[in-house]
Amino acid sequence: MSDTPATPELDRRPESKWSMVGKDPYAMPIEKIDLAHPGIWKENEFLPFLKRLREEAPVHYCAESATGPYWSVMKYKDIMEVDTSPHIYSSEPTIGIVDAFEEFTVPSFISMDPPKHDEQRRVVQGVVAPSNLKNLEGLIRSRAAAILDGLPIGEEFDWVERVSIELTTQMLATLFDFPFEDRHKLTFWSDAATAIPGGGIVNSNEERWEAMQDCLATFTRLWNERVNAEPGNDLISMLSHGEATKNMPPMEYLGNILLLIVGGNDTTRNSISGGVLALNQFPEEYDKLRADRSLIPNMVSEIIRWQTPLAYMRRTAKVDTELNGQKIKKGEKVIMWYASGNQDDEVIENPERLIIDRPNARQHLSFGFGLHRCMGNRLAEMQLRIVWEEIMDRFEHIEVVGEPERIYSSFVKGYSKLPVILHPKTA
Ligand code: HEM
Repeated sequence: MSDTPATPELDRRPESKWSMVGKDPYAMPIEKIDLAHPGIWKENEFLPFLKRLREEAPVHYCAESATGPYWSVMKYKDIMEVDTSPHIYSSEPTIGIVDAFEEFTVPSFISMDPPKHDEQRRVVQGVVAPSNLKNLEGLIRSRAAAILDGLPIGEEFDWVERVSIELTTQMLATLFDFPFEDRHKLTFWSDAATAIPGGGIVNSNEERWEAMQDCLATFTRLWNERVNAEPGNDLISMLSHGEATKNMPPMEYLGNILLLIVGGNDTTRNSISGGVLALNQFPEEYDKLRADRSLIPNMVSEIIRWQTPLAYMRRTAKVDTELNGQKIKKGEKVIMWYASGNQDDEVIENPERLIIDRPNARQHLSFGFGLHRCMGNRLAEMQLRIVWEEIMDRFEHIEVVGEPERIYSSFVKGYSKLPVILHPKTA
């Protein structure tokens, strides 16, 4: 399963000494708690760890981990402070906990500070402008309908593979105007870009590089076709014609493509699966939804909070600073745990529960805040709204019939399998 880690420090294998799986967070010295090892996320044991840190060490220093020393920011208001202070907390060199030189990362505007970030974001932002979203709505709806109509009734199947992945992949192919028959490559590249070698997607960093080179070659071919044509409404045309992006070096182009693929893929996919799981865990909420479909838009925000598809974003302190009483030094890694801020009961009542008519449901942290606030947030919400409208037209109940399988990552919070049985509407 697992490959040999490049250095002992980077050992994030399930069996590594750094894993917290099976441990009681209240029975260990608080400074030993390490949220970055993927084990507790895969095994769904992370919530009590987050709770203890929120209550006892809301800005917590982990001196030793597989990924080196780092600060954890646990409370809603402190996360907001970090996310809205880019002059103190930089997005460079990367927003993942592992430094670029240790592992695979490529430059893209999510890991840039102003002014370059702002220039590049401006170029691609048009693709998610309200007018464009409106144009996409019909296409998303017809694709969602076709996928749902093709599902087996009354027999067990994997919701992740048949619905969540298929739907988001089709959506991505539309955004890039990517050859439709090759769309599954997008899913593979997205998974490979964020996977930990040995976790089931790629076996080694070399294998990952091969996939990324294939991705770059394919997108370079598409760039070359589009750059000499009239600019279309797709992301590749926008990048190849945009003033700030048309002379990007290849690695930066790859980085921005991957940002858009990963940004628009894993997150939406895991929100679709997470919604089905949450409604099964809170059946009274499913009843509320059956009784009143106008709750769907609010429910979508609540699902995105409950799921928190990206558990964290990293910043790096640009200067010596202080946060909630802790002194953070220039150069130190600061991890904003959105997965914890979204469970902060000082801001969100009964946070562990899904409450589909929750007031102010949109005030969650899952899209981040400030300069880097998710560029695709309205697109994601629209996709999820449409999927749920189409689901409610067809099915009385999507019944979860087994334990979900979770992804081996402390960054991408989601599912690789969710067994379900569909019960159609009777009337
Ligand atoms: C439920 C779905 C989604 C979630 C939870 C999500 C979450 C996030 C988060 C947490 C950030 C970083 C925010 C920060 O640092 O403050 C982000 C940035 C970003 N997201 Fe999303 N995202 C989602 C869907 C999408 C979609 C569909 C797209 C496709 C267009 C997308 C594109 C991006 C881009 C381009 C950025 C970088 C923005 C910047 O650095 O200025 N996301 N997203």
